[in-house]
Amino acid sequence: MTLYLFDDLAMTRKEIMTKEKILLKFGGSLITKKNSEIPKINIANLERIGELLNNKKYDLIVVHGAGSFGHPIAEKFNLIDGLDESPEQKKSIKEIRNQMKKLNQILCEIIESKGIKTRSIIPSESMKTRGAKHISQFPKKMFDKCMNEGKTPVTFGDATDDELQGINILSGDVIMMELARIYKPAFSIFIMDYPGVMDGELNSTNSHLIPIINSNIIAEFKQKERNNKTTDVTGGLIGKLECALEISQYSQCWITNLDSLNLALLGKPKGSKVVQ
Ligand SMILES: Nc1ncnc2c1ncn2[C@@H]1O[C@H](COP(=O)(O)OP(=O)(O)OP(=O)(O)O)[C@@H](O)[C@H]1O
Ligand SMILES: [Mg+2]
Repeated sequence: MTLYLFDDLAMTRKEIMTKEKILLKFGGSLITKKNSEIPKINIANLERIGELLNNKKYDLIVVHGAGSFGHPIAEKFNLIDGLDESPEQKKSIKEIRNQMKKLNQILCEIIESKGIKTRSIIPSESMKTRGAKHISQFPKKMFDKCMNEGKTPVTFGDATDDELQGINILSGDVIMMELARIYKPAFSIFIMDYPGVMDGELNSTNSHLIPIINSNIIAEFKQKERNNKTTDVTGGLIGKLECALEISQYSQCWITNLDSLNLALLGKPKGSKVVQ
């Protein structure tokens, strides 16, 4: 009896340890009303995430973005440029961190309601950065422990203490890069509000999905941005593509939307594939 039990436990542990991983980022453009000046969730998309996230094949690691819970404050108080020592900025750091924790809690509750146990890993309390693209302190042990316990880690873009400039906005895209480098998941999937990276004007009927993104295409986007100095035509897209290109060294990397989440969870993603 005891032996059987022991065998079962050993089997379960082995399965957990050998299961491949899938790294998902739910963008702020998806889970919030991203153009709102005040924090607003996109409840319809959050509920759909809850419906679709019934994964069995892979161990999940979840990252999420900030959208209206982060970007407006970060911009207003110049958090991207570091500490300016003003009391207003100090207050804004507290506020953005609280708002991000709130958004994380909402997403975790939705995931938990589907029977998936989660553990929040809060970057402002567990990570440090050296500029926007470099994480100097990363809580790998927390991620390992959480996964060994059969839980899904859920982390997010946040305002982190920064070794160079005091404060930094650490994007969920950069966290994806670090997680892909460490865990080499089978798939790393950015899920946003478009079905992938589009060419031409967004929302126009002439706009088509670009099936393969490589360094040449990213260079073209950068050139387009340079030619449109007055407007930020791509928003956060170029930063995301640069992170995705790096990730593609370690993992299949895709950019897609919620319509393809179920396929991604079956190991058959659609959208734009990012390759070296
Ligand atoms: N060619 C393009 N193809 C697809 N999206 C584009 C393109 N150009 C600009 N975008 C914009 O990029 C956005 C995705 O990047 P953005 O950083 O805004 O979202 P996110 O990463 O989901 O949000 P967050 O940074 O809050 O996590 C899309 O919502 C879209 O408006
Ligand atoms: Mg972004």
